[in-house]
Amino acid sequence: MIFTRCDPERDLETIKEIERREYPADEAASDAALEFRAREANEFFMVAKATTEDDAAPGDIIGYVCGTLLPSDELTAESMRPGAHVVGGSTLAIHSVCVRRHLQRRGHGSTLVREYAHNWVFNAHGGGATSGVRSIRLLCKPARTAFYLRAGFVLVGPSRVVHGADAWNECVITETTARDDRS
Ligand SMILES: CC(C)(COP(=O)(O)OP(=O)(O)OC[C@H]1O[C@@H](n2cnc3c(N)ncnc32)[C@H](O)[C@@H]1OP(=O)(O)O)[C@@H](O)C(=O)NCCC(=O)NCCS
Repeated sequence: MIFTRCDPERDLETIKEIERREYPADEAASDAALEFRAREANEFFMVAKATTEDDAAPGDIIGYVCGTLLPSDELTAESMRPGAHVVGGSTLAIHSVCVRRHLQRRGHGSTLVREYAHNWVFNAHGGGATSGVRSIRLLCKPARTAFYLRAGFVLVGPSRVVHGADAWNECVITETTARDDRS
């Protein structure tokens, strides 16, 4: 797998299809939200593409992670809405973590989340994010929480944000906990 910034012209139509297929309808980001995130928060839109070792044609999209910056250290319904992105914010909200269905349950999702938090955002290498992000927050279903904890996130607790039909947990990883987790 290689990790690249989303190229809106080349990648976005496929990503919109994957998002629609993989998320329940009441949770999937709209096409407009994905467009906004890919263009306005491009450095935080990481796409994983297949290399020859992966079970996909080289260059095919395996999955992606995207996020936008928040005005404060708090995940609110307002900060999660499609057009929210505050340039210079020090907290990043992750909106989508997605792997193509036929490639799931092989460890790709865990690799994506780890790469995104530990290297793409906090290490800012290889064309990744370069801003001063200090923490990354996300909402996940209770059943998916262990997946993020294994990637170094910490459970904050149940979120007050309502999004779709289910309840959500909030998880966070800070620059410091990511560094400790690496060492
Ligand atoms: C969530 C998602 C990104 C996970 O992607 P993935 O590639 O399947 O992730 P992984 O393979 O790393 O881990 C998924 C599970 O497979 C297990 N797994 C990993 N490698 C495995 C293998 N070789 N064989 C069997 N199981 C394996 C992991 O232990 C994990 O178990 P868990 O569900 O109990 O946590 C993917 O299911 C997805 O795109 N879902 C739709 C979008 C979504 O809901 N995103 C998350 C929003 S919170």
